[in-house]
Amino acid sequence: MFNELTMLGKVTLSLGLIGTCLCALGQPAPRLRDLAKARRFNIGSAMPVSNLRQNIDDGKYAALASSEFNLLELENDLKPPAIWVGPHEYHFTDVDFIVGGPGQRGWAQEHGMKLRGHVLVYARDEGYTLPQWLKSSGASMSKDEASELLHDYIHALVGRYRGKVAMWDVANEAIDDRPNQNPFNLRNSFWFRKLGPEFLVMAFKWAHEADPKAELYYNEYGVEGGGPKAQHMLELAKWLKQQGAPITGLGLQYHIDWKTSIAPGDGHYQLIDEIHKLRLAYMITELDVAVPVQKLPAGDPNRGLIPADPEDLNLQAKTYAAVFQMALTSRNCHGINIWGLTDRHSWIPGFSQGRNGLATLFDKSYLPKPALQAVEDVLKRK
Ligand code: G3I
Repeated sequence: MFNELTMLGKVTLSLGLIGTCLCALGQPAPRLRDLAKARRFNIGSAMPVSNLRQNIDDGKYAALASSEFNLLELENDLKPPAIWVGPHEYHFTDVDFIVGGPGQRGWAQEHGMKLRGHVLVYARDEGYTLPQWLKSSGASMSKDEASELLHDYIHALVGRYRGKVAMWDVANEAIDDRPNQNPFNLRNSFWFRKLGPEFLVMAFKWAHEADPKAELYYNEYGVEGGGPKAQHMLELAKWLKQQGAPITGLGLQYHIDWKTSIAPGDGHYQLIDEIHKLRLAYMITELDVAVPVQKLPAGDPNRGLIPADPEDLNLQAKTYAAVFQMALTSRNCHGINIWGLTDRHSWIPGFSQGRNGLATLFDKSYLPKPALQAVEDVLKRK
């Protein structure tokens, strides 16, 4: 079933891109995932199950996803509110389509794509982070009850997909942006209130028990160029290792903008050196490079898709190239995941109230942008 639907998309997309992809010899140019494979590098994109399952845009979405990327991360479908529908009740149907239920192959395997699981513990309370039933019933919950529930959830989810998910964000955004008195400046989250900082150690240990081969990450934003939050993250990572947490590495989200400067020796490179000193890997987990756009009202189909200054797309390309150059020249980078398949599927316009957009490698029509060419040029360098 996957092959017929996606094949239609591949044909449609290839015909649409043929003029773009043909190199001088008339042979199709290598795609992003081919170039990444040659560098033994994981290059992924964050996607909703629904866009793949519904094979949107006559298969163009699925065709671009499977032809350009070798790693797939579900944007929201593996978050606790999507899966954890009751204390011991889990909704796996949507994710099974991509990952494959027990003994089954999913869409990702059918298309030769590794999977990155996001996220077991979204360690903050506001927004789409905790299941609603837990938000309402958790206050009266005892420490032992909270611990047992989290243990059973992690084992149920990670265990179901054992051997099929290459890496997991075990915990996400646990560190506060505002200074507080908590260890490592941790947020005053539900899990912190119930279990103390040890909830992080438990989550890593239980994930490892459920799938000993999966890489396990702590994921964070606002740390990429160094600074106080990055220092809290490094101290937390060191403590986790001291507590015996089987942590593989740190996820650096990299939600940046077209002005972000990244150069050898700067705070970005220093952070990676600090991570390497802790004998940890890192991944760039949610890369997007936002660009100012023409302000349009919510609901306008072009909101977030018309640059305020087209030249900014060339500056964006330079920023993307600088991120990939840094990642590919560091010893401990396990890959890069782009947050959104195309500009039309990016969270940035909504998040920025229409001020920014155009943050990904492909435009609203699934066509390559200058940023893609810049990334491919870096991948081609030896
Ligand atoms: O699924 C519910 C639906 O049932 C409900 O009717 C609807 C209206 O309330 O909400 C739907 O949930 C939405 C969810 O995405 C799934 O589509 C939430 O409202 C919406 O807030 C949520 O936004 C996601 C956001 O994380 C919050 O979880 C964005 O799409 C997603 O791009 C963003 O991604 C995060 C990473 O997980 C962590 N790092 C930061 C990054 C950007 O915020």
